[in-house]
Amino acid sequence: MSHTIKEIPTKPFDGQKPGTSGLRKRVKVFQQEHYTENFIQSIFDSIDAGGATLVIGGDGRYFSPETVQTILKIGSANGVAKFIVGKDAILSTPAASNVIRKYKAYGGILLTASHNPGGPDKDFGIKYNVSNGGPAPENVTDKIFENTKTIKSYKIIDAPPVDLSKTGEFSYGPTDVSIIDSVADYVELLKSIFDFSLIKSFLSSRSNEFRVLFDGLHGVTGPYATALFVDVLGLPKSSVQNCVPLPDFGGGHPDPNLTYAHTLVEAVETNGIQFGAASDGDGDRNMIYGKGAFVTPSDSVAIIAHWADVIPYFKKGGVKGLARSMPTSKAIDLVAKKKGFEYFEVPTGWKFFGNLMDAGRLSICGEESFGTGSDHIREKDGLWAVIAWLNILAAANAQSPNKLVGINDILSAHYKTYGRSFFSRYDYEEVPSSGAAALVAHIDKALTSRSLNDTTHKSASTGTSFTVSDVYNFAYTDPIDKSVSKNQGHVIVFSDGSRVVFRLSGTGSEGATVRMYVERYVAPEADEAELTRDAAEGLKGLIEVALELSKLKEFLGRDEPTVIT
Ligand code: G6P
Ligand code: ZN
Repeated sequence: MSHTIKEIPTKPFDGQKPGTSGLRKRVKVFQQEHYTENFIQSIFDSIDAGGATLVIGGDGRYFSPETVQTILKIGSANGVAKFIVGKDAILSTPAASNVIRKYKAYGGILLTASHNPGGPDKDFGIKYNVSNGGPAPENVTDKIFENTKTIKSYKIIDAPPVDLSKTGEFSYGPTDVSIIDSVADYVELLKSIFDFSLIKSFLSSRSNEFRVLFDGLHGVTGPYATALFVDVLGLPKSSVQNCVPLPDFGGGHPDPNLTYAHTLVEAVETNGIQFGAASDGDGDRNMIYGKGAFVTPSDSVAIIAHWADVIPYFKKGGVKGLARSMPTSKAIDLVAKKKGFEYFEVPTGWKFFGNLMDAGRLSICGEESFGTGSDHIREKDGLWAVIAWLNILAAANAQSPNKLVGINDILSAHYKTYGRSFFSRYDYEEVPSSGAAALVAHIDKALTSRSLNDTTHKSASTGTSFTVSDVYNFAYTDPIDKSVSKNQGHVIVFSDGSRVVFRLSGTGSEGATVRMYVERYVAPEADEAELTRDAAEGLKGLIEVALELSKLKEFLGRDEPTVIT
């Protein structure tokens, strides 16, 4: 079949600037004539994909199958030699990162808006990943954005749609297409990392006292989790729920936190399940939540780092270094100091970890935004974190044959060794951009004039006082390529080491989302009651002071945050 290449004239659209994780907009925006085509052509205009292999994956959300066809047509017209595509347009973000690396592809295009809701009136997203399997760095996304501003035409081949529902290889115009099983490579990868036989024997020997429930929130992880929990670990089918991926996530908000993953929280509480976990729409986030036991992501990554040598991958390869994003609590820094590992503080966004991993200086890292991962791929990895926790619990129980060790035991042992960084995040979603800008300007003014420095603020309800010792705007120089990222969030530091961070989200699709992060450290010598307190209580005074200092309620016109994590 011959395929003619057509050149279609177009005009630039405003606002095609990729955010923290690609271009995210309402589906209706992407459905405008030429909108999606423009962005895809701008990707090809920014990379050198002639003769190369590209991966296409995504979380299967609404508008994905159509977009895969668009990418195939435009990519083929732009000289791509081969496309590797997940069956039914599905490859979780971590699975796609693995496929890019494993098959040495030039890059990949991921169709996802991560944890944002899906469906005709909700969100869609397009994200470009480079050959290391990680999100494109800013120099690439900036180039894509520049090209969207000047685009005059796009190239496309004339071809019938490809059947995405069957695996196999065929040619498509001048290009080869390989439709692959979405799950197999990923399961093989995790099997090479974790001690599945230890986990399996722990779970089968304690099947009455230690039950497991994974909630896919109707996102992409369903088939992956079913393969891992049911087929590999031999758990009953009831150990997974909401594991059929749906284009609109069943109308839910596929974000694993205490608010949006309520199906998990309810099932865990009602059925007294010791180990629960959930992942987001595209499978890179995770939440660990057992009966009466919530693991804050900042603690989760610190605990995985502490226990790394029970995980075969790290036992074999060693731990090369640790890292966290700036707003994430400093719990992991304490593990690094104690164990003598190098550690890094990077801006929010997984892309910042990639260079460190490629340079062999980083093994385990995480973000407060429910992202945890390692250098096995270049994206955060929800199921990796969940299996890491099961591996740790299996190892801890092997060391304690007479007493069942659960999530809370792991947490309190960690706090006794390192102390505890109480941490919480308040999100004010979709507030007017002008209010958000005014809030930032207010803090920025205090930074320049030093008007907050050395001022003391007393919480009315707890009576605790906090004295401001520093205010700064976080900037990062990448230690590998020396690129500089400025303006990554305002930090207010207090004399007791507590911190409050204000940052504008880079992943929203409408208005602005303001995030306020609070952290207060309690040393390991504190009594057990203090160390194991509810986080909201431990942070009450600091939160009051943060709200007062920032005048947040005034600027945003909101009394309460949309989500507290
Ligand atoms: C995505 C990114 C993360 C980031 C998170 C929150 O999940 O991959 O790296 O931490 O979004 O970003 P935001 O800019 O919305 O705070
Ligand atoms: Zn995600």
